[in-house]
Amino acid sequence: MAAPTYHTITFGCQMNRADTERMAAILESLGYVATEDELQADLVLYNTCTIRDNAEQKVYSYLGIQAQRKRKNPAIKLIVAGCVAQQEGEKLLRRVPELDLVMGPQYVNRLGDLLAQVEAGNQVVATDPVEIPEDITKPRRESQVTAWINVIYGCNERCTYCIVPRVRGQEQSRQPQAIRAEIEDVARAGYREVTLLGQNIDAYGRDLDPKTNLASLLRFVHSVAGIERIRFATSHPRYFTEELIATCAELPKVCEHFHIPFQAGSNEVLKRMRRGYTHERYRQIIQLIRQYMPEAAISADAIVGFPGETEAQFQETLQLVQDIGFDQVNTAAYSPRPGTPAAEWPDQVPEEEKSDRLQRLNRLVAEVAAARSARLLGQVQEVLVEGPNPKNPRQAMGRTRGNRLVFFEGNPEQLKGSLVPVRITATRAFSLTGEAIAV
Ligand code: SAH
Ligand code: SF4
Ligand code: F3S
Repeated sequence: MAAPTYHTITFGCQMNRADTERMAAILESLGYVATEDELQADLVLYNTCTIRDNAEQKVYSYLGIQAQRKRKNPAIKLIVAGCVAQQEGEKLLRRVPELDLVMGPQYVNRLGDLLAQVEAGNQVVATDPVEIPEDITKPRRESQVTAWINVIYGCNERCTYCIVPRVRGQEQSRQPQAIRAEIEDVARAGYREVTLLGQNIDAYGRDLDPKTNLASLLRFVHSVAGIERIRFATSHPRYFTEELIATCAELPKVCEHFHIPFQAGSNEVLKRMRRGYTHERYRQIIQLIRQYMPEAAISADAIVGFPGETEAQFQETLQLVQDIGFDQVNTAAYSPRPGTPAAEWPDQVPEEEKSDRLQRLNRLVAEVAAARSARLLGQVQEVLVEGPNPKNPRQAMGRTRGNRLVFFEGNPEQLKGSLVPVRITATRAFSLTGEAIAV
């Protein structure tokens, strides 16, 4: 008999993508084989996101098709994992009774046990808060060059717009030894770069006994042989210390790129968001980073149209983007999320206004990013090759230490995983073109 097949679809952030890689590995350890065709798969797993309403709605439209399939063929297994699963729990079963398993993000490493319950004929909902066990299976990673390493799960902040603490639960840091062991593992498997992951990664270690922090963790993992580059995301301005900045500047493998969301440029809005810093404080952090690492790339997230945001307050966001000169900003229109305080506030900004602000912000972000890229013209940048340019397989694609995508002529399969010096010959807002320099 042919092995059963599985198909996964991932929505949302890097955390979810890392979670899918671990669940895929568990499925393979149970004998499942991956298939590209979601309409043929014996098991379909959706790893879902609920950060904004449109992310949530996308999941329901996908699920409809699978529910129909399952009605014809009850042997198919349907799983909803991730943040919508956690948010909706039992309700999801009522809405889509065809589901076999609804599991929150804290259950990723327990997929095997949950599937055993499904095999025994149960419909399972796993959303109670639990301690996340250390992963014993090796993730089935998408890339062969750069690996995600979970460092801290969950979020203890209470930003008034955000669903993440409700769906990801309390902070749980992994032990430094476990993190280092995983990095040694990926280094042995040939990976050259790791990205340490957490919702607020700079809060790492405060829940451990003895307490530790991200700067110490970076020092602890820095000597792993074979790893050439270390990144981390996402940083919260509240926890970004000078100690961390100095450590990044000192450790050669830590890349000069920092993703530090500011969300808004107005102190009044920041306060209502309950972010715990002012735009002045945010500017200080960036200034300090640039004192230590003048060429550091800075990226961020921002929200427009938060309840009560006036045009003048929005202008302060534009001002901040202009002044800092971001390399990239992920922007979004505010989306009310169930159970969050801001969703209940009466002073919601009209949709048209939100999308108008979003467009204006995006235009500015592209301008500012283009200016940052332009500085690299003619320079030689070190590029870690990840594989072919998906749009032109004769070109290799990789990233600079500052996290800019670079395309250049070269054999992607041969160069994959190597660090290539590339002279930049053309620049765009979010990517570069160059020529490899013979070495
Ligand atoms: N922990 C990170 C961000 C995690 S969520 C931090 O605190 O910075 C990723 C991004 O989604 C956020 O930075 C924010 O910009 C956006 N986001 C979160 N909730 C949102 C909402 N209700 N509407 C629109 N964007 C939202
Ligand atoms: Fe959400 Fe705030 Fe936590 Fe980030 S820090 S995940 S925005 S609650
Ligand atoms: Fe989405 Fe959950 Fe990440 S809501 S952004 S997948 S933490």
